[in-house]
Amino acid sequence: MVFDKNDYDIRTFHAGNESLECVCYNNLVYADNPVNPAFQSMNLFAPKAYLSGGEINGYTRATAPIFLPNTVGGYMPGPLAEPGLNVYGPPVPNSVFRALEHGYVTACPAIRGRSQPQGKAPACIADYKAAVRCLRHIAGDLPGDTERIITNGTSAGGALSALMGATGNDAGYDAYLDPIGAAHERDDVFAASCYCPIINLENADAAYEWQFQGVNEYHRMKMKPREGGRPSFTPEDGKMTGEQIAVSNDLAKLFPAYVNSQNLMKDGRQLTLDGNGEGSFKEYVKSIVLDSARAAIDCGEGLSGMNWLAMDGAARAIDMDFSAYARAITRMKTAPAFDGLSLESPENHLFGVDAIPAQEIHGRHFTLYSYLHSKVNGAMCDPSIVELLNPMPHIGKAGVTLAKHWRIRHGEADRDTSLAISSMLVLKLLEQGCSVDYGAPWGVPHAGDYDLDALFAWIDRVCGQESAVRKIA
Ligand code: DHB
Repeated sequence: MVFDKNDYDIRTFHAGNESLECVCYNNLVYADNPVNPAFQSMNLFAPKAYLSGGEINGYTRATAPIFLPNTVGGYMPGPLAEPGLNVYGPPVPNSVFRALEHGYVTACPAIRGRSQPQGKAPACIADYKAAVRCLRHIAGDLPGDTERIITNGTSAGGALSALMGATGNDAGYDAYLDPIGAAHERDDVFAASCYCPIINLENADAAYEWQFQGVNEYHRMKMKPREGGRPSFTPEDGKMTGEQIAVSNDLAKLFPAYVNSQNLMKDGRQLTLDGNGEGSFKEYVKSIVLDSARAAIDCGEGLSGMNWLAMDGAARAIDMDFSAYARAITRMKTAPAFDGLSLESPENHLFGVDAIPAQEIHGRHFTLYSYLHSKVNGAMCDPSIVELLNPMPHIGKAGVTLAKHWRIRHGEADRDTSLAISSMLVLKLLEQGCSVDYGAPWGVPHAGDYDLDALFAWIDRVCGQESAVRKIA
């Protein structure tokens, strides 16, 4: 890994009518034997003020946290990013632009994805880890504090951020890091910011049907072929077939056994579900939605039209009808939501094999249910690979360094994966003593980076807490 600290440019970036000057190291290849150098490299940016000993928000060249956002979506390749406007959502300054303005050193890795040769699982997480190891390898020459690396991502990118937080230094990834020539350094991170993480894929079908069983109509957006510029979507509505409804019923029945096997604790009590999917775990998930409603009411939103919410006389949300809530936010995916019976989902491809020739089916199953019910006689992915993409089994494992700090946002109106998925992650992290800032912002669908001021306030807070602890020690 060659890094010349003097080989940088100073560039001015624009986002709308705002501009920002920063120091840029472009296209640093973060592994010694890359299979796809364009997607195994990163851009590194630092505020220009740090060149001349300046401070921003109390941070200096040496103390600035390193913000490490990824651009992965749909488990597709994540391209290199730079300060500018958001590609998805409203065209406002992106997180890279805002992070630099705020004083963070910002490293933007490209990451291989499922559509590329050698981009199937676990390439995406191997690459993210290799980028962190590279940062540590060149730490002496680098602006920023490699003990304060904060990952960030949305959806599949949120899953990668969660994996970074949950699997630090886990030797199980070495078989994928050594061949690409990742540096022999630690790959744990200080904090993980995860927006609507699409994690726990092998249990996400059951969780989805636990939440949406009985909601048989679906509403989704189909991405139009992209002709440059911004992506656009067309709505697609339909009703699940009788067969899909039967699959939904089967899968919903599988969820309680999984929840109960996880030994999820809250206030010294195990949260569980009975055979009908009722129980203390469901009450916990409901409490997350109720907290979201209360926060919205506190912000002056009128929620009296929400017929699934029960209010008391002072318009406080006191209870909810979980099935009616699922009907209100609507189903997006047909059953099974993730492990498609015809190997048609993004996740089937993620766990697939490189196709030779390219037109052959290259997806694989990753749940026993879909494998046994496959319509295409699909093969099963090796469960050890599936596990490398799931943070849950790594949390609390010996020899693994967990991020101390977590911020997880899963929109209250998200239909891409069940709220149960992020809730279970949070419970596991709390049990391990992590600090977790969790919330399901009201009315927010599957989205990310929508509250950067709050995200950065959280980063500043956890970095401040940590420096206080260090001083005492
Ligand atoms: C993403 C969304 C999904 O619904 C999914 O199954 C996988 C990935 C995403 O937006 O990254």
